[in-house]
Amino acid sequence: MISEALDKNRQQSQVWAIVATIVIFCYTLSDSTRRAQALSHIRHSKPAIKIGIVMQRPSLKCLTALWLLLCVAANRATAEQGAIPPALKEYKGREIAQTMHYLGAGWLTRESRDREEDCTTMLKALDVMPGDVVCDMGCGNGFYTIKLAKLVGEKGNVIAVDIQREMLELLKDAAKQEKVGNIETILGTVVDPKLPKESIDLVLLVDVYHEFSHPEQMLAAIRKSLKPTGRIALVEFRAEDPDVPIKPLHKMSKEQIMKEFPPNGFKLVEEFDELPWQHLMFFQRDDAVGPPSRGGPE
Ligand SMILES: C[S@@+](CC[C@H](N)C(=O)[O-])C[C@H]1O[C@@H](n2cnc3c(N)ncnc32)[C@H](O)[C@@H]1O
Repeated sequence: MISEALDKNRQQSQVWAIVATIVIFCYTLSDSTRRAQALSHIRHSKPAIKIGIVMQRPSLKCLTALWLLLCVAANRATAEQGAIPPALKEYKGREIAQTMHYLGAGWLTRESRDREEDCTTMLKALDVMPGDVVCDMGCGNGFYTIKLAKLVGEKGNVIAVDIQREMLELLKDAAKQEKVGNIETILGTVVDPKLPKESIDLVLLVDVYHEFSHPEQMLAAIRKSLKPTGRIALVEFRAEDPDVPIKPLHKMSKEQIMKEFPPNGFKLVEEFDELPWQHLMFFQRDDAVGPPSRGGPE
């Protein structure tokens, strides 16, 4: 899995398993040897047979220790899994797509992208102001991050979040080349984009939401990061349109989007239907409804 947190959990579980195995092995060996020595007075038996007999009949103490250690290891593994729940395969009837690998990042900055997706019109429709704080969530190699950084200007700031360190490195290279300094990068996890609270004017999600393996936790975290007037701009390839040449797994219908956002504490405030391939829908916190009862890091 991509996230650092998952790797850490896995490593910790492995260490616990190894420690438990070593302790059990040492305990069994010392106990068995002691009992073999105690039995060595038995006449007419070869020592190897005595040890064999003892090893086949471990003491009650030894079995209890084994059982206790296994319980500790199992509890520990369960607690660690609790930190990041298993990735969802589907959400509200929609199959969740795999994360786009950083080796495919070239597709995001392809020469034909502006013509195909009309990125210029999309950026205008975002209505970003100089001085705004914008988050490019799932920024990839920074195709939109760089453009947003120029729009918000020196007084503004762009927070670029991705779960793949390599994507962020590609973005940093591009920012250096373009000489833009108002970009902060964050290596998020699949449940936590690690954003500051109530500080963001606009969270842009281009072609990423359908990849969230933990949509409820991510939406809860984004919700907490928005200023009271802050907006989400959701951009997804149109599932309703068979002429959009993208695999169905990477598309979303408006109907599906509305099944997922309002129950997570968002209201639809605006729609922009002029893009050639994508939906552009704006959401704000629905404070009348409040956040859903679970999700998001505190
Ligand atoms: C298809 S790319 C889109 C990149 C960029 N938005 C663009 O349009 O050029 C999706 C990106 O979202 C990232 N991603 C997937 N799940 C994420 C999550 N939970 N938090 C942050 N980024 C995520 C992936 O690593 C990938 O870089």
